[in-house]
Amino acid sequence: MEKTLILIKPNAIQRGLTGDIITRFERKGLRFAGIKMLFMDDELVAEHYSHLKDRPFFPYLKASMQASPLIACCLEGAEAVETVRLMVGATNSRKALPGTIRGDFSMSGEQNVVHASDSVENALVEINRFFKPEELFDYQSAVTCFEYGGEETLKFK
Ligand code: PPS
Repeated sequence: MEKTLILIKPNAIQRGLTGDIITRFERKGLRFAGIKMLFMDDELVAEHYSHLKDRPFFPYLKASMQASPLIACCLEGAEAVETVRLMVGATNSRKALPGTIRGDFSMSGEQNVVHASDSVENALVEINRFFKPEELFDYQSAVTCFEYGGEETLKFK
């Protein structure tokens, strides 16, 4: 099954939203392959947001990601990258639809509570950036047959 990365950002940690955010992904049926708390040092911020380094808001984005530790999660499921992006909603939380995580929990484009990988290729790079191989777990969910149909199980295994 496909894997993706989410970061529960420092603003979500500070606001006590971690449990609500994790619960949404659990209830959806995404499997947690890895979860860890870490502080994003200068090197990690520069690497993760290298495509934004020349944007005027970069110093604000960097400060927001270093305001406290954050929680990185590797989620697994059929078409997980697209599914998670839909659940997270638009980058600018004011434009994110109600029912999405940002739409329900945030008013900001910077303090937008979660980061989610935007493509399958980037997900692979980002998972390797935040997790060592031994921090990811490949275990069988006991309820997969109640979460996916038979055809889907074959297609997305
Ligand atoms: S882009 O290039 O503008 O389309 O970037 P986008 O994909 O929308 O956003 C990428 C990340 O930049 C953060 N962001 C901001 N931070 C601070 N200030 C402003 N104005 C701002 N605009 C966007 C945004 O939270 C995105 O972070 P991630 O971690 O990718 O969600």
